[in-house]
Amino acid sequence: DTSRPPLTYVKGIPLIKYFAEALELLQDFQAQPDDLLISTYPKSGTTWVSQILDMIYKDGDLEKCCRAPIFIRVPFLEFKGPGVPTGLETLKDVPAPRLIKTHLPLALLPQTLLDQKVKVIYIARNAKDVAVSYYHFYRMAKVHPDPGTWDSFLEKFMAGEVSYGSWYQHVREWWELSRTHPILYLFYEDMKENPKREVRKILEFVGRSLPEETVDFITQHTSFKEMKENPMTNYSTVPFDLMDHSVSAFMRKGIVGDWKTTFTVAQNEHFEAHYSEKMAGSGLSFCSEL
Ligand code: PPS
Repeated sequence: DTSRPPLTYVKGIPLIKYFAEALELLQDFQAQPDDLLISTYPKSGTTWVSQILDMIYKDGDLEKCCRAPIFIRVPFLEFKGPGVPTGLETLKDVPAPRLIKTHLPLALLPQTLLDQKVKVIYIARNAKDVAVSYYHFYRMAKVHPDPGTWDSFLEKFMAGEVSYGSWYQHVREWWELSRTHPILYLFYEDMKENPKREVRKILEFVGRSLPEETVDFITQHTSFKEMKENPMTNYSTVPFDLMDHSVSAFMRKGIVGDWKTTFTVAQNEHFEAHYSEKMAGSGLSFCSEL
């Protein structure tokens, strides 16, 4: 498939070709101290937390949060694609305080974000569900290479040979960074368990407070069901050659433990053994390593 270019390596990190090109443009990027960075390994809850934050910044006004699709309201820092504005171009029109999305590992993160001590909300999701979600995303978002079979994709995921590289390294290095940099490190599984509790954590971290009923309203309107139906959050407005929702929806299932429908017993055993090695001594644990 000619619309599926191979990944390019930048400082040892595999990336979508367009995003590797966009990294060069980021030399012009200037972080501002009141920026808020939403950082994740792909498929870990980025869109969910982006919508929560935009609603918080707009005091729960859902109509204001329908002013544009999520990727315009919360620009994707290293985004570049055919025939659409880059993340950096989108960011130019965003008034402060800005919300910015990235999936970059630390090796590729613009230094200005660290220098300006920009607050970061990091969301981590258990590796097995990320692998499954990423597989379906590769299928529908054709700027990625062909994922091949699930079995071969899983091998690539474990080897870090997917866009943005190793999940293991990503969740670990951002966790390490949270010792010295202002980072709120959240887990997708906690958000599923008690979304209101996590919304409150976010509010506290960004130094804002809202009336109880507004917190309830935000929690309710950022549910999977609501966001799946909302064209301003479900990515249905992006051009077909970037995302083909007939292959798999961006808002696919939104649950914890979907890996059980996909991993074979043998794949799970193989994965678990590799996982224990890669995560040894990390201090991180995920609730869904069942
Ligand atoms: S991306 O492309 O990396 O920015 O994708 P990201 O938004 O990080 O992850 C997409 C997965 O998150 C699920 N999702 C949600 N789950 C629960 N609640 C809400 N509100 C929500 N919004 C998005 C989405 O369905 C993808 O997961 P899967 O497992 O594929 O369904």
